[in-house]
Amino acid sequence: MVGRFDERFLEEIKSRLRPSDVIGRTVKLRKQGREYVGLSPFNKEKTPSFYVNDEKGQFFDFSSGKTGDLITFLQETERLSFAEAVERLAAEAGVPLPAVDPRGAEQEKKRQGLADWLELAAQWFEAELRRPPGREARAYLERRGLPEGEWGRFRLGFSPSGRTALKDYLVTKGARPAELVEAGLLIAPEDGGAPYDRFRDRIIFPILDARGRVVSFGGRAMDPQARAKYLNGPETPVFHKGHQLYGLSEARKILAAAKADEDPPLVVVEGYMDVIACHRAGVAAVAAMGTALGEDQMEVLWRHHPEPTLCFDGDRAGRQAASRAIDRALPLLKAGRSFRFAIVEGGKDPDDVLREQGAAALKAQLSKTTPFAEALFVRERDEAEPLDTPERKTALKVRLRKLAASIPDADLAGAYKEDLLARYEALWPTREPVYTVGAAAREMSRAGWDKRRRAAPSGAIAETKQATERLRAAPRALSAALAIAAVKDPAVLDDSIELVGSRGFGDEKLDRLAHELVRLRYETDHLEMEALQRRLLASGFTPEDLARVEREAARAGVAAPFLKESGERARELWRQAFDLLMQLESLERAVESAARDLSRDQDASTLISLKAERDHLRRLINSDWAHGGEDARPVLPH
Ligand code: UTP
Ligand code: MN
Repeated sequence: MVGRFDERFLEEIKSRLRPSDVIGRTVKLRKQGREYVGLSPFNKEKTPSFYVNDEKGQFFDFSSGKTGDLITFLQETERLSFAEAVERLAAEAGVPLPAVDPRGAEQEKKRQGLADWLELAAQWFEAELRRPPGREARAYLERRGLPEGEWGRFRLGFSPSGRTALKDYLVTKGARPAELVEAGLLIAPEDGGAPYDRFRDRIIFPILDARGRVVSFGGRAMDPQARAKYLNGPETPVFHKGHQLYGLSEARKILAAAKADEDPPLVVVEGYMDVIACHRAGVAAVAAMGTALGEDQMEVLWRHHPEPTLCFDGDRAGRQAASRAIDRALPLLKAGRSFRFAIVEGGKDPDDVLREQGAAALKAQLSKTTPFAEALFVRERDEAEPLDTPERKTALKVRLRKLAASIPDADLAGAYKEDLLARYEALWPTREPVYTVGAAAREMSRAGWDKRRRAAPSGAIAETKQATERLRAAPRALSAALAIAAVKDPAVLDDSIELVGSRGFGDEKLDRLAHELVRLRYETDHLEMEALQRRLLASGFTPEDLARVEREAARAGVAAPFLKESGERARELWRQAFDLLMQLESLERAVESAARDLSRDQDASTLISLKAERDHLRRLINSDWAHGGEDARPVLPH
């Protein structure tokens, strides 16, 4: 990751720059004790929760959970690569750039070695396409409307059918077969036999990283009988599938060449040929390779565009893929980072459209997009049964409210609620004004309720009250248990650190503890109790408070099974418990906001359903949920 810059060089730069100066140029900072605070550059907010600490050389953004040093800051706010950020800071600090990297050399040399072989392989594949063995491949590309003049731009190639053609070539150039296996170019048979070429008799699509260096290959079979239509290189030290996007370097060029007022889209399509079609039509596009778009890939996309367009086929599989992308993206949305959706109609993909209807038609189809909130709404509306009964209508409304509340960014969650409910209301535009009917119905039901309440023996009410209290206490004990477990083994935080950073443990009292744990976790792998206690003390959290949290945690009992386990099992249980708590928290918020909005609902059934679900989850959290406790039916995130 550090690449050609060694630790000492980076330290030298950092020692010459004060983070508050550099950051202070783009974020208005105010001194507060030893730190500077200001409004988050990552989220719209009214109360400052962005801190800069010059001594530590770190910033911490409580609103997003983001933290890091100056390099990270430039990467995050100006979308620079690591190297670009370092170069910028080095210039500012007056530190000359190192000629070559003197340390961390081993790994870097290895990566460099792999990169060299990958580049050489790409050149060889390109040459093979133009030599006699590539005759059929050339004909195939021509048939698909990809003339020779276009091959160079995408570095298309051909792997001939011999078992060791590429291997033989690279070995004469000095490669060791083991390196080529590591680069993903050769396959080492399990029985220990000699490695052989991975790609045989295929059209080759080199996969380049963001800066245009070859990191892997995809190969398309020309023979329709071939076992796999496309074959992709494996995960290697230079190719991380979850991160990489096919076509990104070319897409960046297209975006960079666009004029400021053009607002060019960045489109995510499904296949290699689709990316190429888009680029030929002048539209920036990328594709995940053989997998669904992952979270890391989404982060990469947002670094290049605030609202990339996800393009799917109009068929069933395409709709399902879009639906999965919606679910994966929803918790990551923030102000200024979202997605739009485009559907290619008629069972075609972008490559077909370019070939059959031309570049203008493709551009037009890709610019007809649906905003995220609308795509989400349409999916929910059309997902299940027809909306022909009050129960089904209410179920839809409940789902919409829950989905909105599941967005961690509070402002955006509010905006989604408004938007989704307005779309819901618009489904029945001709019905009676809701207020008169609704108000009357509410009056009646309230009268009924009061009557029942008056009629109930007071003992029963007290009992119900006590039960409610017990239920409410449950999440508090579990929150405390989660916090204590994180103090003892901070590694439990790692998978959820963004959420813990921005939402705490779902309990206001523990926010401070969560905040400090997250900060320390970001700064060091070793959480020293003393350091934590000092930090907590400094922020007004005393050892007695900690003891109180421990006592509270003890009350969680079977509901906190991770306290009795250790290692990976404990971490897994911790994550599950944290998920439950976050689900409960977003349900609580959905209930609260539904209660506030009661006047716009025709009746209280949305609120009642949400409450029922929330109570169920509260009970579950209070039970031995990890062992299928009494009330433990699976909780769906929906
Ligand atoms: P498609 O099957 O939709 O093919 O796969 P396509 O891109 O339209 O290909 P052409 O037009 O027939 O050549 C979409 C993408 O899914 C991955 C590839 O990345 C492909 O581009 N894929 C598909 C695989 O990884 N393996 C396969 O066997 C098929
Ligand atoms: Mn296709």
